[in-house]
Amino acid sequence: MGMVENPEATGAVARIHHAAVAASAISAAWELGALDLLAESGGLDVEEFADRNALDRSATLSLFRALAAVDIVERSGTKVAPGVYFAEAYRTRSFFHWLSRGSAEVFRVLPEILRQENRSGAVVGRDDAAIAFACDEISAVSYDPWFWRVVARLDFIPAGVADLGCGSGQRVVEMLRRYPNARGIGIDVATSALAMARTRAAAAGVDHRVAFRAGDVTRLETGAATFRGVELLTCFMMGHDLWPRPRCVEVLSGFRSVFPDVRRFILGDATRTVGVADRDLPIFALAFELAHDAMGAFIPTIEDWQAVFAEAGWSVRTTQEIRIAANEVIFELEPR
Ligand SMILES: C[S@@+](CC[C@H](N)C(=O)[O-])C[C@H]1O[C@@H](n2cnc3c(N)ncnc32)[C@H](O)[C@@H]1O
Repeated sequence: MGMVENPEATGAVARIHHAAVAASAISAAWELGALDLLAESGGLDVEEFADRNALDRSATLSLFRALAAVDIVERSGTKVAPGVYFAEAYRTRSFFHWLSRGSAEVFRVLPEILRQENRSGAVVGRDDAAIAFACDEISAVSYDPWFWRVVARLDFIPAGVADLGCGSGQRVVEMLRRYPNARGIGIDVATSALAMARTRAAAAGVDHRVAFRAGDVTRLETGAATFRGVELLTCFMMGHDLWPRPRCVEVLSGFRSVFPDVRRFILGDATRTVGVADRDLPIFALAFELAHDAMGAFIPTIEDWQAVFAEAGWSVRTTQEIRIAANEVIFELEPR
């Protein structure tokens, strides 16, 4: 079949290309402080902004052109103001950052890692520090209001809290602020994320009550004194790393012996979308599922999760189906 000429496609496809560039521009503008400044002040001068932040003037102007090309800002010369899509792009900035900064390498090597011959054993180098940075904000948009509602309803005050895959440490630090007599543990494999977590704990004045440990949460030692007294366990945006199913059952049931005093386990994660048309996928689902499929990481559905808990020794107390950006869900579990 020959290619059909469609004059409208030229402009539409150019906009797709501009949007791909804008994804990087959104994450850079956020990290450089431009999005916050625009949100707070309603406008900026590109040259002043570049000079104040020691940025190259012409490259900074190009960055704002990329944002203007897709109506995220309006630009007149060097003057920039929020455009029609600014508020929504500002709200969802962390998903762009996750895509074009933290996970950029996955998309760069896509043709290589899809090949059968390259599927076993190769680990794609994502940027752990950038992912931790974005996840703070992803958490604020996609999980925190629901998470804190579950915490507010707890019928006990935990003596100890532990966050598995703690990233930048925001959850464990906030829990320690909420519970001034509690001790906390944050565990993550990414040492760059743990460095952020330690800085954050010190800034919040809770560093004397928290220990951040480098390690794989699927290999925690049973019987360690450090884990005694942990009554509230949390794990956000990394539960999918525990799959496939047999491993997930083993690890979840292992948590019961590693944390013998645990009373509640709050687990929140994005899950695989089911039955949604490709065009109707929520903002983050497409990138999240494609990146993980490409990396060979299993992403469970909500039903997949529900089918492992009992076998792993946990009962589900409550389920919050959030479904904002990537079929997010929070399970509140207790030992059976
Ligand atoms: C998407 S981030 C989420 C960070 C944090 N939970 C939050 O809510 O902001 C996932 C984190 O889990 C960590 N992680 C993934 N697999 C892990 C494992 N097996 N053991 C420890 N940390 C792990 C990653 O290094 C990363 O920091």
